[in-house]
Amino acid sequence: MPHNILVTGGCGYIGSHTVLQLLLGGFRATVVDNLDNSSEIAIQRVKELAGEHGPNLDFHKMDLRDRAALEELFASTKFDAVIHFAGLKAVGESVQKPLLYYDNNLNGTITLLEVMASHGCKKLVFSSSATVYGWPKEVPCTEEFPLCATNPYGRTKLFIEDICRDIYRSDSEWKIILLRYFNPVGAHPSGYIGEDPRGIPNNLMPYVQQVAVGRRPTLTVFGNDYATVDGTGVRDYIHVIDLSDGHIAALNKLDESGIGCEVYNLGTGKGTSVLEMVTAFEKASGKEIPLVMAARRPGDAEIVYASTEKAERELNWKAKYGIEEMCRDQWNWASQNPYGYGSPETSD
Ligand code: NAD
Ligand code: WQD
Repeated sequence: MPHNILVTGGCGYIGSHTVLQLLLGGFRATVVDNLDNSSEIAIQRVKELAGEHGPNLDFHKMDLRDRAALEELFASTKFDAVIHFAGLKAVGESVQKPLLYYDNNLNGTITLLEVMASHGCKKLVFSSSATVYGWPKEVPCTEEFPLCATNPYGRTKLFIEDICRDIYRSDSEWKIILLRYFNPVGAHPSGYIGEDPRGIPNNLMPYVQQVAVGRRPTLTVFGNDYATVDGTGVRDYIHVIDLSDGHIAALNKLDESGIGCEVYNLGTGKGTSVLEMVTAFEKASGKEIPLVMAARRPGDAEIVYASTEKAERELNWKAKYGIEEMCRDQWNWASQNPYGYGSPETSD
């Protein structure tokens, strides 16, 4: 029997790509998602892309905080492991609405962990974030760096990491991998699934793609006075397919004995500035991205990129794609789906 994986938040950007890689890798996947920040169309498209593996995917529209519904699902299906993506992720919104973030991300996770434990499912892969490194004093960021939160969203990641370490200390049957993602971008090379944020994008590449398709006139560059190659902020962009494959590597690791609660960075180890990324996207798309230079965005770090050594060594995983492929696939998705899974009428 192939492994059966519960994927929370599997209709979202990273979740949908990971579900596809799971199916293609011979896993069965059950997705639960409340569709708060996603569309069920993503799941239909993943099924199509998975071809003969499509029937190995089930979807349940469900909020993780709905304990009764989650209990019912675990009572009817045996899961070998859970990949937990479900959560709210907009940094600015989390500052405006901290209780919404604490309720959704923390209560959702606690409910999930309790139901998992009561059904004897104690293998978890959790979506943490490079945001837990705050403003790193040096780069590359290794997993041993001191952790800090700079906003309520980041604090939910720190709290959940700590909760995971605590439950492992209390019960050594748990096997948990915390994956700290750097900056996921790009889309499946088919251009059939990709990132489709609701409202005005907060992140660089979704914004760039909306300028390229004519939905927004200009990209605002937040700060050009950083101590970097061209003055703009530097990040570690990682192709979403590489990131998805990192989850398969983590699942394989969970099959080893004595792993406890471990943390891994998922990045490329390379830093790219905002202007370098925009230039690469212009080249891939043939579109000009008009820029407006503006002040630094409050809370932003100057340079963040990953040390990838631990993941390479222990997960046997390494990112394969560079920014050319990231921009090529982002444009392939954007040009075929200028309004994402929606239409001009449904978009802001
Ligand atoms: P996303 O918003 O596209 O996907 C998250 C999914 O979770 C959505 O489909 C949403 O509807 C669902 N969801 C949210 N709350 C839920 C709840 N209570 N019950 C059920 N479903 C719920 O986001 P993403 O970019 O795919 O991110 C996935 C995970 O990775 C998140 O935990 C995010 O914090 C983390 N992460 C993302 C990034 C990034 O830049 N995209 C970076 C680091 C970490
Ligand atoms: C990248 C660079 C901006 C938008 C965020 C979260 C982090 C993680 C990943 C979830 C920065 C610049 C951006 C724009 C710009 N998510 N920029 N104009 O800030 O590294 O990380 O997403 O865990 O928690 O904080 O990513 O894509 O927002 O910004 O100039 O319109 O692009 O200043 O230098 P960031 P980002």
